[in-house]
Amino acid sequence: MAGFAPFDPDTFRAQGHRLVDRLADYLAQAVSGDPELPVLPHADPNQLLAQWSCDFEQPISFEALTERVLAGSNHLHHPRYMGHQVTAPLPLGALCELIDGLLNNANAVYEMGPVVTAIERNLSRWLGARLGWDARCDGFFTSGGSLGNLTALLAARQVQAGFDVFTDGLLGGEPLAVLVSESAHYSVTRSLQIMGLGQPGVIKVPVDERYRLRPEALPAALAQARAAGRRPIAVAASACCTATGTFDPLGPIADFCAEHGLWLHVDGAHGASAALSERYRELLAGIERADSVLWDAHKMLLTPALCTAVLFRNGDHSFAAFTQQASYLLHQQNPRDEWYNLCGRTVECTKTMTALRLYAALAVLGPRVLGDYVTDRFDLGRRFGQMLDEADDFEMPVAPECNIVCFAYSPPGAAAMPGLQAAIRQRLLADERFHIVQTQLGGRVWLRVTIINPLTTEEDLVALMAATRAAGQELLG
Ligand SMILES: Cc1ncc(COP(=O)(O)O)c(C=O)c1O
Repeated sequence: MAGFAPFDPDTFRAQGHRLVDRLADYLAQAVSGDPELPVLPHADPNQLLAQWSCDFEQPISFEALTERVLAGSNHLHHPRYMGHQVTAPLPLGALCELIDGLLNNANAVYEMGPVVTAIERNLSRWLGARLGWDARCDGFFTSGGSLGNLTALLAARQVQAGFDVFTDGLLGGEPLAVLVSESAHYSVTRSLQIMGLGQPGVIKVPVDERYRLRPEALPAALAQARAAGRRPIAVAASACCTATGTFDPLGPIADFCAEHGLWLHVDGAHGASAALSERYRELLAGIERADSVLWDAHKMLLTPALCTAVLFRNGDHSFAAFTQQASYLLHQQNPRDEWYNLCGRTVECTKTMTALRLYAALAVLGPRVLGDYVTDRFDLGRRFGQMLDEADDFEMPVAPECNIVCFAYSPPGAAAMPGLQAAIRQRLLADERFHIVQTQLGGRVWLRVTIINPLTTEEDLVALMAATRAAGQELLG
């Protein structure tokens, strides 16, 4: 080909066909639960460094590179993947990434990515309607839940502070505080500290025995903030709590916020997807009164990472986080008139066509498929809770509300070995047949699964209990 050889369409066509064939074979093996395929290959990080050196003197084929990546990576489509809150994505989403990668229509401003700009706005409003909001809602997509929490909280501060914090800085007015559930995801606290509130500006609200924010504790938290000379501006609640999957009581929290003029931010990274489930929508009762909601499609909507919606009940507030104008990109004065230049509202300037992945799933498969998936996974999480409850040698810190389940292997004598749960997990990981995680609650380590893969069955959970028991018995001698 004349011109630039790496752009050769025929090479792309041939490589692409071969790649899709290879990935389809890989997918077939993974979804079949082939025991020959390790759920996660167990490798020492320092050894892996040596294997992935940047010695580019000897070029290798794309096919050889693909094989190496597949062999060393985690296999999320395997039904025994129940580890972190990252989904086994729809292959359709992967195809969207191919479009995204080739078109590279990064929608910092409309002229850079017209189609995805329109998708982003309509999809944000569609998601907002699922939360029970009216046509005034608005939002945008950003690169992950952590950045989403930061952006929503920046908007909350700008609207609530009583002075122009973005322009004048924190010293331009009263010290501020946000009331945060003790079991909120760390990205909430981190966002507030990035924003300069420091630890004293993060007022921790105690949780109940199910690790849910206790609304009765809010007045004391408010008083504590005021006594420290700080102006409380918001409450950050969780739907749901990362460690336990339990949902904060949003209705009573919203009542408190309304009474005291506080902004309600709901971190729905995992659980906002319950809005698509007829059976479990109830868990979110009160979310329709939130001012901002964070919703990760790469957690419970089968979308490849990253795909995060930051949503505002009053769409005007979606413009509040950054009042600064990058004049070379934005020509008009009022950012609201330029809804289509999304970098006015996001931390990112250039960003991927992330919303396309979720839009395609909804447009091609229909919302029902995603809603039924959420229902089915939450059902199985609760069923796993019953199975653990019925077994004499397992215990749980809380009965599960959704598809996040914490448990411990605790036959007589287990308490005498404090490192038992972590050691069981290490054995399971080394065995490469299950991917589960662990968490710390009430000063104890618990095993934890997120039943996020649509193919995980009750039989897989029976097998997990058996493998846990076997590892535990060996360790206890
Ligand atoms: C409740 C909650 N919020 C925020 C996050 C951060 O999301 P991300 O990993 O997309 O940055 C997580 C991640 O697990 C989470 O569980």
